[in-house]
Amino acid sequence: MDINTTRKLNNGVEIPLLGFGTLRSKDNEETVNAVRWAIEAGYRHIDTAGAYGNEKSVGLGIIQSGIDRKKLFVTTKLRLEDMGPGEQMKGFENSLKLLQLDYVDLYLIHWPMEGKTLDSWKVLEDIYKSGRARAIGVCNFTERHFTELFRHSKIKPAVDQVELHPHLSLQPLMAYCTEMGIAYEAWSPLGGDGGKLLDDAVLKKIAEKHRKSVAQVILRWDLQKGIITIPKSIHQDRIIANANLYDFELSAIDMKAINDLDHDPRRFGRDPNPMPL
Ligand SMILES: NC(=O)c1ccc[n+]([C@@H]2O[C@H](COP(=O)([O-])OP(=O)(O)OC[C@H]3O[C@@H](n4cnc5c(N)ncnc54)[C@H](OP(=O)(O)O)[C@@H]3O)[C@@H](O)[C@H]2O)c1
Repeated sequence: MDINTTRKLNNGVEIPLLGFGTLRSKDNEETVNAVRWAIEAGYRHIDTAGAYGNEKSVGLGIIQSGIDRKKLFVTTKLRLEDMGPGEQMKGFENSLKLLQLDYVDLYLIHWPMEGKTLDSWKVLEDIYKSGRARAIGVCNFTERHFTELFRHSKIKPAVDQVELHPHLSLQPLMAYCTEMGIAYEAWSPLGGDGGKLLDDAVLKKIAEKHRKSVAQVILRWDLQKGIITIPKSIHQDRIIANANLYDFELSAIDMKAINDLDHDPRRFGRDPNPMPL
């Protein structure tokens, strides 16, 4: 396994297991630099969203890195404000314009939204058929949301991007996604902004043993479980360190100790379970 390791989506498109998150990164030099540093550090997968308001800076960071577009995997997401009838395609085209791209690798519905998700998915299917998104998927979907979507859709989502980390390992949902051929991606893999995950005593002990940081241990746990993971940082040292995951391996005992941390599941973000489609 190395930084170029990918996972095959259900339509054959390869997605790099390690990606770079950009939530709360501002639409200015901060994000331009962070994205450029990430690409320089070897990340080949960048995650943004219309709702983050930073697609322009993400696009500039990509351009400034000088990377060949085809070597990069770029994800963005449909804003809730753009889920109304006739708005979805405009929202997608605005994202392309801000990113200065003529296609994205993955386009996602950001959150299930009552009365608007099923129609929005039809627009994502059209975008996929047009070739302007190499894959389409969803975020924050539970088994119930998928059951409802499958009744009304022609194309199966390639990805479910969900809050996922050692304190919330969502094993039943992951098993369901595996059975349905849907890849899962971890958001807030490090516990998000202000979370307490990095202070976990069990993770600290494992990190000391491997002479790695807790963040590196969590991200390595993701990779060894085949979870696509998208840590965010605006600091160059952390961006580099969060990709320095390939010179150690967690043992089966380490992996079990981390898996067991979810005996008392804790969310840092919003719970999508009660949201109707
Ligand atoms: N689909 C969705 O609904 C959804 C929801 C949330 C997030 N996401 C995506 O998932 C990405 C990751 O989630 P996230 O941003 O919520 O949280 P995260 O990646 O778990 O954590 C980011 C936080 O941890 C800090 N950090 C990063 N590396 C660190 C390190 N090595 N040591 C200590 N602190 C570190 C960052 O601070 P600094 O930046 O100051 O370094 C930031 O405060 C997002 O950026 C976004 O792209 C998607």
